Amino acid sequence: MASPNGALADRRTVLLGVTGSIAAYKALDLAGRLRRRGINVVAAMTGAACRLVGPASFESITGNPVARELFPENKPQTIEHIALAELADAVAVVPATANFLAKAAHGLADDLLTAAVLATKSPKLAAPAMNVGMWENPVVQGNLKKLKAGGWQVVEPEEGFLACGTRGAGRLARVEIIEQAILDLLGRGRDLAGVPVLITAGRTEEPWDPVRFLSNRSSGRMGFALARAAREQGAEVTLIAGPADIAPPEVDSLIRVRTAGEMRRAVMRQLPGNRALIMAAAVADYRPRITQRSKIKRSGGRITLELAPNPDIVAEAAGKRKKGTVVVGFALETGDLRANALKKLRAKGLDLIVANDARALGSSSNRGWLFFAEGRSERVPETGKDAFAKLIINRLVGLLKRADG
Ligand SMILES: Cc1cc2nc3c(=O)[nH]c(=O)nc-3n(C[C@H](O)[C@H](O)[C@H](O)COP(=O)(O)O)c2cc1C
Repeated sequence: MASPNGALADRRTVLLGVTGSIAAYKALDLAGRLRRRGINVVAAMTGAACRLVGPASFESITGNPVARELFPENKPQTIEHIALAELADAVAVVPATANFLAKAAHGLADDLLTAAVLATKSPKLAAPAMNVGMWENPVVQGNLKKLKAGGWQVVEPEEGFLACGTRGAGRLARVEIIEQAILDLLGRGRDLAGVPVLITAGRTEEPWDPVRFLSNRSSGRMGFALARAAREQGAEVTLIAGPADIAPPEVDSLIRVRTAGEMRRAVMRQLPGNRALIMAAAVADYRPRITQRSKIKRSGGRITLELAPNPDIVAEAAGKRKKGTVVVGFALETGDLRANALKKLRAKGLDLIVANDARALGSSSNRGWLFFAEGRSERVPETGKDAFAKLIINRLVGLLKRADG
């Protein structure tokens, strides 16, 4: 799914190690593909790689400077290999020479790439490419075995014509296969990898006349924090956002709405394609029964505003959901938090209700209770909305696992 800027949104960083194989130019295609997915790519090239492909090509494709020197002269204050090791969410060495495999297997760190690879705790992948004689050499195979035992993922080369004019194994695996392996590597350890999650955020505005509306003080912070937390766990997030005080985070799909009616239509349309709905938006319970076409003029006398109830979106969504879809609601209460939240949880048929203190509205922190359909409850002490959101997303992971049986 595309983000507002058209690219697949993803702020993770891949350290792309490029070593001195004739296939080094293919890493340019890989870097472009990853970048089009919104992934930040930092290329680290060995001296031999720079003899085969110009670093300027990698710089223009990745939009980042190429890391080359263990002791860069223009950045004496940074320790480059440690900075790279910490920056990388995953390391992919494409292509990987026999020389690189040997150094990595034995812990050598005599250039920037090997030192960064040794220092990082992030998952690592190598896609070897070499002449068939080198590939079949037991020393190379022994090094590969060592690397695999150490947790490296190896994307095996293919058979075919090699640049040296021979035929056999050693040709770099196809770029699409390496790309997919890198995406899988980035997804590892993330509980919601690829799970579509629908989140609503912000408030609604219910127009009374062309310039006036009814609304509330919701800032959008809680729903936006939930969207961020879900994406950090790998979820594909569709965010339905009403008006808010801050800009929405980067998500896979952003749908802007204004009124409760628009939000209802968007939720009901998106729901079937999602595994979970988190209804964090502060939807107005009532709207002016009639929206005046022209601005209401001051008459001096009293006027009466008649209100009509808005649809209960979360209850309708819970009632119409497919089996296995988890629905999470929010309850904002000014008194008797527990009793009111439990009543809503049951009446609306939710899996989890987050009961907030009304003071949370518009603030950057939150506190309250989580009430689960199976009867469990959990108190959440005053905490920042990001931490609160992470906790809710962790509990959602548990609910989805249970729904999967
Ligand atoms: C034109 C050319 C192509 C090369 N292709 C490969 C290759 O595909 N695989 C490989 O392991 N070594 C290849 N080498 C040898 C490496 O460049 C050499 O072992 C170098 O020391 C590797 O350094 P690095 O691992 O630091 O990049 C090639 C050398 C040259 C001159």
